Amino acid sequence: MTETRDTESDSEYVTLTDSVSNKSVDLPLLSGTEGPKVIDIRRLYAETGYFTFDPGYMATGSCASNITYIDGDKGILRHRGYSIEDLAEHSDFMEVCHLLLFGELPTPAQKEKFEHDITYHTMVHEQLNFFYRGFRRDAHPMAIMCGVVGALSAFYHDSTDITDPHQRMVASYRLIAKMPTIAAMAYKFSIGQPFIYPRNDLSYAENFLHMMFAVPCETYEINPVVADAMDRIFILHADHEQNASTSTVRLAASSGANPFACIAAGIASLWGPAHGGANEAVLKMLTEIGHKKNIPAYLDRVKDKSDATMLMGFGHRVYKNYDPRAAVIQKSCHAVLNELDIKDEPLLDLAMELERIALEDEYFVSRKLFPNVDFYSGIILKAMGFPIGMFTVLFAVARTVGWIAQWNEMIADESQKIGRPRQLYTGVGKRPYVPLEERG
Ligand code: ACO
Repeated sequence: MTETRDTESDSEYVTLTDSVSNKSVDLPLLSGTEGPKVIDIRRLYAETGYFTFDPGYMATGSCASNITYIDGDKGILRHRGYSIEDLAEHSDFMEVCHLLLFGELPTPAQKEKFEHDITYHTMVHEQLNFFYRGFRRDAHPMAIMCGVVGALSAFYHDSTDITDPHQRMVASYRLIAKMPTIAAMAYKFSIGQPFIYPRNDLSYAENFLHMMFAVPCETYEINPVVADAMDRIFILHADHEQNASTSTVRLAASSGANPFACIAAGIASLWGPAHGGANEAVLKMLTEIGHKKNIPAYLDRVKDKSDATMLMGFGHRVYKNYDPRAAVIQKSCHAVLNELDIKDEPLLDLAMELERIALEDEYFVSRKLFPNVDFYSGIILKAMGFPIGMFTVLFAVARTVGWIAQWNEMIADESQKIGRPRQLYTGVGKRPYVPLEERG
């Protein structure tokens, strides 16, 4: 493979040579604003008859995007150029939503209008209340989320025409606004309490806490430190480039499916323990370990390749240094525990000891396995009073803006095509059909 710059067109290309046939093909070399160069292989099959093989997309860019940038080796995460650390410290979730959707932080007037528009979409169609009653009370809230969000297209027909930019924007606002309401309703349904309607005088995070924890018969006081931590958790989970659930949303959308169906597909993908389900799995793992003295034996199981046990909350496909979100959330975790006067949270002590031991262990060091955002988010959410089953739901609430921003970007891109990967067929070759009476 050779790399060449064409000075006349100021473009770069690589030449791939097949040493068997001695045929060559020039493939364009694309440069983004940052990050490694990308070989454009779209003409590869037509010109050479070869496909590429990359299950898990280890070395494949599936799209061009100008929303989020990650440098996994340096531990960098930026949205539209702003670092996640700056956004988590100085911004709020509504600003980050505006940034992801429209590309810029809002001016004061834009912020006021955006917050107003989101706030006035937070109620759900009253008929949707009855939809919940079809679920068992002990259903996992993520199962309810998949069903209810998918069903939104049956309630909001006027925002499913993806060719109409206005309808796309209405669907985007509806999804961002209604997701906390739908999530809180899933929780209330599971504990047999009445649904709590949204309140327009509260911020996005406060309103969510109110719908989750208020009851009609008494006043619910919102703790500002907890609301602040909730807002920061939403910011930290808002978008993360082309992860599994976002790619699922894009793939579903590439066929022209409506936005509610696409986001429901994203929720389904997020639910898996290798992705958003990890925060729930971390807490279950810490509970299973139970005591610091059991850590070495647990790590032995994790390192044993014949045992499927993983250290949940550790490792990341992209971050091979540290997850910048983990550093921010670790700070919030301590602030919330102090505020709630939780002096001794055995699970936090256990988590910190587990992290310390793992970070000194050759197995984890050599594989560049570090705590990810989910390692701490479960502990903080538990302290805030969320049941374990709701952890991934909160992730879905926060990630909705990322999914929808990526969806909008994709639909608006005129070069977008239906996503249709190819395969390496490894099955049986052509063979004659055997009549039933001749088999056996
Ligand atoms: N515990 C133990 N070993 C691990 C872990 C882990 N958590 N993660 C990776 N490894 C090992 C693998 O077994 C592999 O070892 P090997 O080279 O001896 O075969 C090596 O590290 C490389 O791992 P891969 O599986 O190639 O890494 P990949 O990029 O495919 O997986 C993933 C990344 C899915 C996040 C993985 O690390 C994992 O399952 N972690 C636990 C679940 C988790 O915390 N997920 C949350 C991700 S962040 C998020 O969604 C917000």
